[in-house]
Amino acid sequence: MILDIVILAAGQGTRMRSALPKVLHPVAGKSMLGHVIDCARALSPRHIHVVIGHGAEKVRETLDAADLNWVLQGQQLGTGHAVAQAVPYTTGAEQILVLYGDVPLLRTDSLRKLSEQAGKKTLGLLTVTMVDPTGYGRIVRNPAGEVQAIVEQKDASAEHLLITEANTGIMALPGEQAANWLESLSNDNAQGEYYLTDVVALAVANKVAIEVANPQDELEVMGANNRQQLSVLERTWQQREALRLMTEGVTLADPERLDVRGKLVVGRDIFIDVNVVLEGQVTIEDDVEIGPHCVIRNSTIRSGSLIKAFSHLEGVDVGEACDIGPYARLRPGTRLDRGAKVGNFVETKKANIGAGSKINHLSYVGDAEIGEQVNIGAGTITCNYDGVNKFVTKIGDGVFIGSNTALVAPVTIGAGATTGAGSTITQDVPAGALAVARTRQRLIENWQRPAKK
Ligand code: UD1
Ligand code: CA
Repeated sequence: MILDIVILAAGQGTRMRSALPKVLHPVAGKSMLGHVIDCARALSPRHIHVVIGHGAEKVRETLDAADLNWVLQGQQLGTGHAVAQAVPYTTGAEQILVLYGDVPLLRTDSLRKLSEQAGKKTLGLLTVTMVDPTGYGRIVRNPAGEVQAIVEQKDASAEHLLITEANTGIMALPGEQAANWLESLSNDNAQGEYYLTDVVALAVANKVAIEVANPQDELEVMGANNRQQLSVLERTWQQREALRLMTEGVTLADPERLDVRGKLVVGRDIFIDVNVVLEGQVTIEDDVEIGPHCVIRNSTIRSGSLIKAFSHLEGVDVGEACDIGPYARLRPGTRLDRGAKVGNFVETKKANIGAGSKINHLSYVGDAEIGEQVNIGAGTITCNYDGVNKFVTKIGDGVFIGSNTALVAPVTIGAGATTGAGSTITQDVPAGALAVARTRQRLIENWQRPAKK
């Protein structure tokens, strides 16, 4: 079946009270429209058309991709008018699926079900029965249960308002009818808009069958018109994600206190403590434990590693059985080999830290190559920057860097070498040597401190 998808995203979203176009507001770190586009992509359609209007340039700039056809709707004259703008690009499509750019929780499965049920020849509607359908279009059925029309809230009679089956707005149009139907819509209604929903009555008149599918739950088809609704979408998404993780073998200290904003891949027997935020592309392998209040972005944590409380990792590859934190800050380009340790108040950037090496306390290590079984003492700083250029510090296997050492890069410390505490190392140290670069201690016997008068 040749499938085209039209996503409606031209509306204004005044109630967001925002300079950002509504569909760009994020849910779980990705714009609402981004979620809808990904859902559309999952069905492998021939084309995806996105109808934009308010904030069109910004929306397009933010989400532009080769597989998207952007269609401008100059004036927002209604959902029927919006779809009509895309119709000229749908020639040859056997089915046209209509989605909303501000309904981001729609499951691929629900959409696929609607699409398959409707096929090429029938009109497919995604409807949902609600406790309170106020504001939604109502599905009007005849006594035989056949759908006759959709009536908008503002056009509804008292009798129609009692109907609890609501239109989600998501529908499947038979390709061969779409153009005709959309052309014959009128705006003779309470809102003076061209209603897409009027195609239902046209289908009935043309004796085109109507298929109805339902989503798993109401939240799946909920849109966001204001920030309160946006927060409900966010929490719903996070609950779903927490459930997925637990199903896959992750223990969560509290499923309500984890935020995933991106794509998280997990192994088994992982423990995640409270208030952890995981962003971007994160992979966590088996038997990893993540302490409370950690932020981990675009990183991989390999098997058996422990990330202690309040650590912040970005762009990091943590090897197996490593030990990090508490209060560690690992910045992009940090790679730890097996069994390495980075302790409290240590910052690293572009640093390879070899197997079994330790940076346990209060250090800055940037632009560094560190071998295996190295011990970096407390307060060590790689002086990697002269204000313009960055330089590399190389430290061989088995080196012992004394506490409070300043390593002025570029500098190389040979394997097995030692630096004395408090040294400022400006020259290379050969393998096995001890480098001491500090003034010698002076003693003045019987020193008299100044006395207060
Ligand atoms: C629409 C449906 C209603 C349904 C409800 C579900 C119609 C006439 N009504 O009503 O039956 O219950 O959705 O939420 O279809 N849009 C455009 N261009 C326009 C108008 C709208 O792109 O000219 C976009 C909006 O940005 C939004 C979507 O279409 O993403 C729905 O528009 P909205 O105004 O929210 O429709 P409702 O009046 O809520
Ligand atoms: Ca709406």
